[in-house]
Amino acid sequence: MRRILVTGALGQIGSELVPALRERYGTDAVVASDVRVPSARGLAARTSDGPFEHVDCTHIREIEHAVRHHDVRTIYHLAALLSAVAEERPRVAWEVNMGGLYRVLEAARLHDCAVFLPSSIGAFGPSTPRRGTPQDTIQRPTTMYGVTKVSSELLCDYYHARFGLDTRGLRLPGLVSYVAPPGGGTTDWAVEIFYHALRYRRYSCFLRANTRLDMMYMPDAIRAKMELMEAKPSALVHRNAFNVAAMSVTPEEMAEEIRRHVPGFVIDYEVDPLRQAIADSWPESVDDEAARREWGWQPEYDLARMTRDMLEKLDGRLRSAP
Ligand code: NAD
Ligand code: SER
Repeated sequence: MRRILVTGALGQIGSELVPALRERYGTDAVVASDVRVPSARGLAARTSDGPFEHVDCTHIREIEHAVRHHDVRTIYHLAALLSAVAEERPRVAWEVNMGGLYRVLEAARLHDCAVFLPSSIGAFGPSTPRRGTPQDTIQRPTTMYGVTKVSSELLCDYYHARFGLDTRGLRLPGLVSYVAPPGGGTTDWAVEIFYHALRYRRYSCFLRANTRLDMMYMPDAIRAKMELMEAKPSALVHRNAFNVAAMSVTPEEMAEEIRRHVPGFVIDYEVDPLRQAIADSWPESVDDEAARREWGWQPEYDLARMTRDMLEKLDGRLRSAP
């Protein structure tokens, strides 16, 4: 059986992507992997229900061992440092984000695997058109995270053009979810706000009230990845790094929506200059027409539906937590 390998599987996305892939393709068909081990993080319990390998993606021998041992045909390469952490540790970010991707692509080339790579709205910069950011446009990011994301998009294009590797990718917006916490990004506020609303009815946001960015609820993001990887290759013109969008929101607007369900919820602002500068260099909203046209992308959650679902599910989790 040719299997799927997920790198960085214990993170915010992997904790939900692995169970979703296992539900679709079977538990044994999906190998979770990370530089950490599942027992180190209780929230990753669902990820550890099936096969798990310790894989540091900066070591090609560890990737190749997992690929050979499990007869892997597709790699969802999630391992990376997110924007705020990458800005604090740029050298490590380059090594993990670029060194890791290069080794994953090499392992994929040697063993004939398809590769999924999540890029980001962080792949754009201050000179990119900020509203309705086109699929093909100026990409001159000013953060280490953005530099690695643009380079990753290009490297995936190169491996497809040069070696015929089946590489595909999405430029994801900030993701909102309740299973695993975010790993140190500029959009982490959009998750924290829900936890704080339910626990304390108050949240102090590290971005300004009117900072508008694209966001997406995790179920849409998981579905987008799987739909792209199942799309007919002949339909994909922009095979790597499709813009995908669901909603474009500010902290002020999200707080207002939460207040409909949590009366008296209060938000204030203690701006973190590092993360504010990163957010200010990103688009407010991207145009995802290419994804809609080429493989039928369609989001299911807008702000109102996401907020309702997120509060309900998170409340259940917080109440049942020990
Ligand atoms: P995360 O920080 O929650 O998880 C990353 C995982 O990678 C962690 O479990 C970490 O242990 C692992 N990792 C770190 N270094 C590693 C290494 N050397 N080898 C193997 N594993 C290693 O990140 P996430 O939110 O799950 O994001 C996954 C991918 O999606 C990243 O490429 C990120 O840039 C991209 N992305 C995420 C978002 C978002 O909002 N979460 C948005 C856009 C793009
Ligand atoms: N959520 C991610 C971050 O803030 C966007 O890529 O880093």
